[in-house]
Amino acid sequence: MEAISAKESRVVMTEIVMPNDTNPLGNCMGGRVMHLIDIAAAISARRHARTTCVTAAVDEIVFLAPVPMGSVLVLSASVNLACRTSMEVGVRVELESLASRLRTHCASAYLTFVALDETGRPMPIPPLGAETADEKRRMKAAKKRRERRLARRSERQ
Ligand SMILES: CC(C)(COP(=O)(O)OP(=O)(O)OC[C@H]1O[C@@H](n2cnc3c(N)ncnc32)[C@H](O)[C@@H]1OP(=O)(O)O)[C@@H](O)C(=O)NCCC(=O)NCCS
Repeated sequence: MEAISAKESRVVMTEIVMPNDTNPLGNCMGGRVMHLIDIAAAISARRHARTTCVTAAVDEIVFLAPVPMGSVLVLSASVNLACRTSMEVGVRVELESLASRLRTHCASAYLTFVALDETGRPMPIPPLGAETADEKRRMKAAKKRRERRLARRSERQ
């Protein structure tokens, strides 16, 4: 299979935090941010695999700053590593001030997706072409995370 460039899986999703998304403090609920992360990552995975993909695992998510109602969230996602049937997608969430256009990093996450064939079984995906220095750095870091993830998985089994 021919490699697909990491750029092809890039997703930028912009959302506004509405009253229904908030907790009693008036800040966006963590679960809402997680939902948006899962959607951005799923689109990215699907852009790479070009078939149905399911979330197999989500690594630790850290919320770095509160996100008040009315904030604009910008989620950037791309595939960091493609293995046989699974891939790691990295998502960075930033809060954008519409007045200053300044962005604050408010959350990051790494998700593992598995590509499925029409019978629902894991199917092989194209390799990932990492071209830029950033893409290569992300791939290297993703390989280390995958080793840790698979070690945890075998401990659970
Ligand atoms: C994800 C799923 C398809 C994996 O099925 P499986 O029978 O365990 O598949 P395999 O053991 O053949 O593994 C397939 C790939 O998934 C990876 N994988 C499976 N579980 C994983 C985990 N917990 N963490 C990281 N990778 C995982 C394997 O490493 C393998 O990757 P590779 O082919 O690139 O090396 C299956 O567990 C599933 O359907 N889970 C539910 C998914 C879902 O519904 N998600 C929505 C959230 S509720």
